Amino acid sequence: MSSQNIYILGIESSCDDTAAAIIHNGKILSNVIASQKIHEEYGGVVPELASRAHQQNIVPVVDQALKKAGITKDQLHAIAFTRGPGLMGSLLVGTSFAKSLAYGLNVPLIDVNHMQAHILAHFIDEEGFNKPTFPFLAMTISGGHTQIVEVKNYFDMTVIGETIDDAVGEAYDKSGKILGLGYPAGPEIDKRAQEGNPKAFKFSKPKVDGLNFSFSGLKTAILYFIQREVKANPNFIEENLNDVCASIQYTIIGILIDKLKQASKQTGIKQIAIGGGVSANSGIRKALKDGEQKFGWTTYVPKFEFTTDNAGMIAIVGYLKYLEGYSVEQSVTASARLKI
Ligand code: KG4
Ligand code: ZN
Repeated sequence: MSSQNIYILGIESSCDDTAAAIIHNGKILSNVIASQKIHEEYGGVVPELASRAHQQNIVPVVDQALKKAGITKDQLHAIAFTRGPGLMGSLLVGTSFAKSLAYGLNVPLIDVNHMQAHILAHFIDEEGFNKPTFPFLAMTISGGHTQIVEVKNYFDMTVIGETIDDAVGEAYDKSGKILGLGYPAGPEIDKRAQEGNPKAFKFSKPKVDGLNFSFSGLKTAILYFIQREVKANPNFIEENLNDVCASIQYTIIGILIDKLKQASKQTGIKQIAIGGGVSANSGIRKALKDGEQKFGWTTYVPKFEFTTDNAGMIAIVGYLKYLEGYSVEQSVTASARLKI
């Protein structure tokens, strides 16, 4: 079947990005994202505003994806969409749109788990990017999730560790808020961290059993630390911002790498992939590269445009499922807490 000319439309609307992509036999033809700037003013995603913006964006975004791919909707073989996990109001927009379009075009409808998609983004055909071989470990790190997944095959995955409170991206964003940085703060903390001393300030790592993570204690520790220092010196933040960012980043990367090392040891798997917005981080990228030397790992970091939320990753899962002859009934519903 893979020798045919298969065109799949992927639709992603789980959080605050409205996205559509066309994939042709595993290769991306277009990957369009409308990011919702409105949330910046509020320092976080406002669900009600996100749903409304999805409503406005979905048709133009899909139209643009088709146009950029140089195809018409009649050439589509299937419609893939994010069923969950995510914000219910946001998911409903993409889900309803995908159902109607598949119904209208009379083509198969394919539901996709957003977390599986972050992992399977590694199977998009891209020059210069190797695909992982099974089994491998995938660490998905973003504003909404932090998981370590043992991936035995495309659709045979087990979550072996996850956060018991905040996601790692939230740790970045909440730390940024304490420091007076804009939202989302991850990229700026990363940039400043590269100019600062990672050992300037010490934050203790949380003690969590097994392969699970916890980041809420770190956030509180940073808050108390900053409050104490600012009391003694009102200019503390301005005078030490790069060093504070470097020290926060050093602590967070340390937590992630410790758990990856443990997971690799426990499973005997040395192939390691990352995904999600935080995989854009320079510190985690460097730490993974170091792991190749130190622990004999083979590591996989996706192309930048497939790290943050995007529809290319939804389309590739749609393609892989389509090849297996899979489709879902029109009665399918969005699921905010969908599990892998
Ligand atoms: O995957 P994503 O776009 O959306 C979610 O599903 O959450 O991830 C967004 C998260 C935000 O928390 C943002 O601060 C973080 O990814 N992020 C980073 C970097 N770039 C984005 N965190 C640290 N370093 C970065 N370079
Ligand atoms: Zn995501």
